[in-house]
Amino acid sequence: MDVKLGRVVITGAAGRMGPTVRTGLRADADHLVLVDREPVTVEDETETAVAADVADLDTLVKAFEEADAVVHLAALSDEAPFDSLLDTNVQGTFNVLEAARRAGVRRAVLLSSNRVTGSYPIHHHVFPDEPPRPDGLYAVSKVAVEALGQMYADTFGMEVVALRAGSFKEEPTETRDLATWLSPRDCVGFVRAALTATGVSYVTAYAVSANARRFWDLTVGESELGYRPEDDAAQFAGRFADDDPFWHGGPQSGDRATPEAVLEHLPD
Ligand SMILES: NC(=O)c1ccc[n+]([C@@H]2O[C@H](COP(=O)([O-])OP(=O)(O)OC[C@H]3O[C@@H](n4cnc5c(N)ncnc54)[C@H](O)[C@@H]3O)[C@@H](O)[C@H]2O)c1
Repeated sequence: MDVKLGRVVITGAAGRMGPTVRTGLRADADHLVLVDREPVTVEDETETAVAADVADLDTLVKAFEEADAVVHLAALSDEAPFDSLLDTNVQGTFNVLEAARRAGVRRAVLLSSNRVTGSYPIHHHVFPDEPPRPDGLYAVSKVAVEALGQMYADTFGMEVVALRAGSFKEEPTETRDLATWLSPRDCVGFVRAALTATGVSYVTAYAVSANARRFWDLTVGESELGYRPEDDAAQFAGRFADDDPFWHGGPQSGDRATPEAVLEHLPD
């Protein structure tokens, strides 16, 4: 589909997902503004790099000038001390949305996480409108990310899509990935759809490949964003034991949903 994306800001462009999203959007964007606190090297005149922390609202407002959309990837992307999660993920997302509002950016795509519902049992098929069951404090911060997006949509009329990403990897590396894998191709597909879908006010959708064993419902992504994922982790099933205890029961986030995983980052 030939849809121009205009000028797109990508925060967190130096992370794991950033290069895939950047490459995937490049052909259809007029210009990409690559924001990260880590260095990013531009590849040609269609890109601009901005070294910035998402704590710095003024710099974000300048970076967002004349942008049509922002894809907000920058985050602490796993369990961490709660004050750091609040700073980077919650205050940082507020700053990104507020900079977008001030700069007149029409659409924001926020990367949330499957882990906001990670404490549902593996045999429960989760729809995006079910109550959150965060598996830890990282996931709590992503619940707040989604709430900020909903508020900016309802209160300020910004178009916001929160994508609850699965496990973004080249290929599955653990048993759970047979359910949760998000392939690079489908990652780009979801982000692109989140940028181009029409009639969006606020949407939360799972961004996961079409894995036969997935836990999450994909109909919102298809009906609201018009994207149906293409890959299925089942092609890698032979690499993992069929009788792995993970499939016998317990939370969808597996070991990530244990007390130890949270306690490790709490102050003494
Ligand atoms: N990778 C996954 O499997 C996965 C799964 C679910 C959700 N997500 C979410 O998707 C997004 C991208 O994930 P990722 O795997 O690329 O994460 P990552 O940790 O690899 O990259 C995050 C990027 O954000 C930048 N960053 C962190 N704090 C910053 C700050 N204060 N200011 C500016 N930049 C900052 C980092 O420098 C890094 O380049 C994150 O929001 C993550 O929570 C990722």
